[in-house]
Amino acid sequence: MNTQEAIAKRKSTRSYTSAPVPEEALTAILQAGFAAPVAMARYDSLHITVLQNEDTIKRINDATSEMFSRRMGVKRNMDFGARTLLFVSTTTEGLLPEMAYANVGIVVENMVISATDLGIDTVILGGAPRIIVEDETLMEELGIPAGMKPVLGICLGYATTEEPPKTHSITVNRV
Ligand SMILES: Cc1cc2nc3c(=O)[nH]c(=O)nc-3n(C[C@H](O)[C@H](O)[C@H](O)COP(=O)(O)O)c2cc1C
Repeated sequence: MNTQEAIAKRKSTRSYTSAPVPEEALTAILQAGFAAPVAMARYDSLHITVLQNEDTIKRINDATSEMFSRRMGVKRNMDFGARTLLFVSTTTEGLLPEMAYANVGIVVENMVISATDLGIDTVILGGAPRIIVEDETLMEELGIPAGMKPVLGICLGYATTEEPPKTHSITVNRV
């Protein structure tokens, strides 16, 4: 698959089979994250957590579903069944917050496109990290380094059903 194909093929998958992500694929996806450009080359401001512990995944999913119900008034099951989750954390120390958060997005997108290229489905998670930062036990359990906070997560796995990618557009002006 070439890069344009991987970009076009990527989509958010919210239902995964129990098939594990091969270790070699996970390594390649992490390497894609390491290859991302980072403002002021502050790679030390970032950290990636690989989460495969079933109990911890369940607690995060339950708490995220509960948060959605409480804050948005809609009942949404956030347990997509993924057995491998990644979380990207950052510190804003010595970096403009905008740059720190942009770094996370860029690392995440590199990993998501790499996963798509390897035939692995993904969805980016913005809600679950909000739960983790509010829970000291989860922060410790996930080994988030002191001074850092998780900003985005990624579910990795294989979709239960084949769905085509959606098409989107963003307004553009030319000056
Ligand atoms: C920063 C960010 C946070 C997101 N957070 C969530 C999330 O918490 N839960 C979820 O199901 N999808 C989440 N998404 C996925 C978007 O909803 C999805 O990308 C968008 O609806 C477009 O659909 P597509 O990815 O299938 O093209 C997030 C995406 C981004 C980029």
